[in-house]
Amino acid sequence: MREPATYSPTQKLLHWAVALIVVEQVIVALAMTNVGEGPLQNQLYEMHKSFGLVVLALVLARVLVRLSRGAPAPEDGIPGWQRVAARVSHASLYLLILIVPLLGWAGTSACCAPVNLFGALPLTLPISGGMPVGEAILKVHGAAAFALTALVGVHVAAALHHHVVRRDGTLRRMLAGG
Ligand code: HEM
Ligand code: HEM
Repeated sequence: MREPATYSPTQKLLHWAVALIVVEQVIVALAMTNVGEGPLQNQLYEMHKSFGLVVLALVLARVLVRLSRGAPAPEDGIPGWQRVAARVSHASLYLLILIVPLLGWAGTSACCAPVNLFGALPLTLPISGGMPVGEAILKVHGAAAFALTALVGVHVAAALHHHVVRRDGTLRRMLAGG
């Protein structure tokens, strides 16, 4: 894998766009499953499904950029076990941000509701099995999304540890101008 000196502006933009939408997705998911039936719930579901597909598209672009361009080597002086931990957790984050929206899309298509991108583009997948299959997939979707949320918590703590305790350039190099 190539090791450029910096993350490209595209990599930074995609990182922060995906981060922002994933946080929004979890908040909207908790709201939509707790707000009670009605027009607001329907709107939240539609918002969750559409922005979930936007994340999926951004992540696919991100993976392509990552595979073709690589990522900078860790900052100097970081112990071996932390390099391994970073590599494993980044790979797990990539895996989860791909499978979470895919499972949401597959589960919704199978169980009970059409998937329309912002009410304009029909994108329901042809998945049979009906309610039982759809509900089972959505259960895994929810569990994987909560695992993603937990891992993001660890990831943010690690980024802050680098910035505040170690005072190295790890966070800065993912920021604009860094
Ligand atoms: C990164 C993207 C996504 C994240 C982080 C995410 C997160 C979540 C979370 C945390 C829940 C569980 C809520 C709860 O049980 O309290 C949930 C539920 C759900 N998600 Fe997603 N989601 C994403 C993408 C999608 C997509 C693309 C779709 C469909 C096209 C989708 C459809 C659903 C549905 C229908 C539920 C409700 C399941 C139920 O009623 O039990 N999600 N999502
Ligand atoms: C949903 C939220 C997030 C996801 C899915 C995510 C995912 C990732 C992934 C996969 C990488 C590896 C990039 C690569 O090498 O190609 C990365 C790097 C990074 N992330 Fe996040 N991230 C999220 C949120 C955040 C937040 C909120 C912060 C800061 C507080 C942050 C700080 C960083 C930093 C500093 C790096 C660079 C690490 C390095 O250069 O070794 N991330 N992120």
